[in-house]
Amino acid sequence: MPTSTLIRNSFAAAFRVVLVAVVALALSLVAVPPAQAAGGGPSITKKYFGTLSGGKKIDIYTLRNSNGMRVKILTYGGILQSIEVPDSRGRLADVALGFDKLSDYVKQSPYFGCITGRYANRIAKGRFTLDGKTYQLATNDGPNHLHGGNKGFDKRVWQAEPFRRHNSVGLALTYTSPNGEEHYPGTLRAKVVYTLTDDNQIRMDYRATTSRPTVVNLTNHTYFNLRGEGNGRILGHEMRINASHYTPVDKTLIPTGKIARLGGTPLDFREPTAIGDRINSKNQQIVRGGGYDHNYVLDSRGHGLDLAAKVVEPESGRVLEVITDQPGLQFYSGNFLDGTLRGTSGHLYPKRSGFALESQHFPDSPNHKNFPSTVLRPGDVYRTTTIYAFSTM
Ligand code: GLA
Repeated sequence: MPTSTLIRNSFAAAFRVVLVAVVALALSLVAVPPAQAAGGGPSITKKYFGTLSGGKKIDIYTLRNSNGMRVKILTYGGILQSIEVPDSRGRLADVALGFDKLSDYVKQSPYFGCITGRYANRIAKGRFTLDGKTYQLATNDGPNHLHGGNKGFDKRVWQAEPFRRHNSVGLALTYTSPNGEEHYPGTLRAKVVYTLTDDNQIRMDYRATTSRPTVVNLTNHTYFNLRGEGNGRILGHEMRINASHYTPVDKTLIPTGKIARLGGTPLDFREPTAIGDRINSKNQQIVRGGGYDHNYVLDSRGHGLDLAAKVVEPESGRVLEVITDQPGLQFYSGNFLDGTLRGTSGHLYPKRSGFALESQHFPDSPNHKNFPSTVLRPGDVYRTTTIYAFSTM
């Protein structure tokens, strides 16, 4: 082949490569955002996730609604492992902190995404008296009991029952906690139903019954980052909480028993305010929490489903609303995250790279007569609902 033809041919080949690259780039720019590309009705699928050291197999369920929003739930701890929601341009990101390996959840999870129980948050010195009898629970958080003890509901294997309806898809999880487990009285039959609706809501319906008088306080402990997990801190998120009171805490984060006004304090979020604006304030309560780690007394006071909090992330345009029938909401700004945990994205989670909004009864209620009661008696049914509603600005 003459040299000139050779040069022409390699020129043409190079040109073709560039052309293909340009076309591919153009196509990727105009591609339909995944949130809309998906189509089809809601669906749910199950896959193997891992095996616990005792041999129990753990599944991961993927729920998908008609908009392409996707939620993954583990049978271990009832954990919301991933929540993929669109931003204002339709691009999906996982907004829940989590791990992609079961062993990470077992070894080192700071309660990512789990069902917390039997008693979410703290009980002072792990002790309470009910009907004249004193119960001593594990002290697994300094001098106090936290999130159900050494092996709470976050570390139990739940039975799963998937279901599909016209505009939603869901997973019913059940767990029977035997009498005396973690030193709580009564056999507690717990059921948590997660439903993903076509309007991008995750609805959580909790139910429990007991064989003996006991105390119960269940919640979900998802850490959110509306920028996407592993994508920086949450300090720019704008928070609104519909509460004019809260329960101040002592140095060990146990409520003092007071129901105090939020007005005039840096804990007041009745007006939308960036989480980071006042988080380093010298306010004694903020110093004790190492940031926000407080129970807000919701203005709705637990009378029916109501908007408790609204969080807006200005860059992505993602919005989260927490709707609940519970009297309290723990706002925790991820102060104990320390940059050592590597999440689903492969990125490390620095301090305050996720926040939790835990709908609940007030911490340490069994030791405070002025707080709404958390006692459950045989024949009664504990029932509560919380919704995480996603949208965009
Ligand atoms: C709750 C508590 C926090 C912390 C986290 C888990 O939000 O209030 O103090 O224990 O759970 O790390």
